[in-house]
Amino acid sequence: MKITVINGTERKGCTHAMKEIFLSAMGEGNSVREYWLPRDCPAFCTGCKACYFNNIEVCPHSQYTVPVWNDILAADLLVFTSPVYVFHVTAQMKALLDHYGTKWMAHSPEREMFGKQAVIITNAIGQGMGKTAADIKDSLDFWGVAHTHIIKLALFQAEWEKVDVRRKNNFQKNCMRISEKIQSRKKVKPRLKIKGLFYMMKTVQKMIDRAERRAGREPTTDWQHWKKNGWMDGKKPWSGEIYE
Ligand SMILES: Cc1cc2nc3c(=O)[nH]c(=O)nc-3n(C[C@H](O)[C@H](O)[C@H](O)COP(=O)(O)O)c2cc1C
Repeated sequence: MKITVINGTERKGCTHAMKEIFLSAMGEGNSVREYWLPRDCPAFCTGCKACYFNNIEVCPHSQYTVPVWNDILAADLLVFTSPVYVFHVTAQMKALLDHYGTKWMAHSPEREMFGKQAVIITNAIGQGMGKTAADIKDSLDFWGVAHTHIIKLALFQAEWEKVDVRRKNNFQKNCMRISEKIQSRKKVKPRLKIKGLFYMMKTVQKMIDRAERRAGREPTTDWQHWKKNGWMDGKKPWSGEIYE
């Protein structure tokens, strides 16, 4: 499997240790590409919206955002990690995800996403893991990722070495279980929620297009993207049809 890992911290702490255990559970023979934040995307989205009117290649930070996105697109499995920082994802992870707002289904999603699986790994001393995982999962769901697994662990310690052994063992078992589930899926099709979001967003695109035409304006970049992919004419991004 091709695995792309986006590490939401550069520290080699608890999050790193958990990610390493998950990758070991995935076994041998995978090709793994890792990015570390903020090193590999040290910029905040400026809000210029250039990507919404064109694509991410015109982003002022494209030297960071395009290589990361290309490896996200190339992967079978995406792994996102983040410790909990004040009940949420790290600022550097949020900064990266902001750059890909244009890839949400409300705009111009990529059909490759609908055949991918993802894992979110998060931890905290005590609380905030649900919201942190949701910060990442919102993007993954709206990008169209077919299946996302969440692995979270309350550590009750600040250092991995001090974390209770039973807690670590349960985490390792959980990683094995999720790894088996991921590898047992031969053909990846999106779950119902993702398909539902796709149809909802298709309706939204149609409504926007009607309003644009009534106002005498050209079809939007997003509408053209949906049209070009055949999604306005009945094709589905998960149907395996041959595209030009
Ligand atoms: C800025 C900051 C904010 C944090 N906020 C929370 C929090 O809201 N809830 C919590 O239980 N732990 C919180 N923690 C603790 C970390 O989530 C925890 O120590 C985590 O294991 C750190 O991951 P690391 O070892 O990979 O750096 C915070 C730590 C930092 C540095």
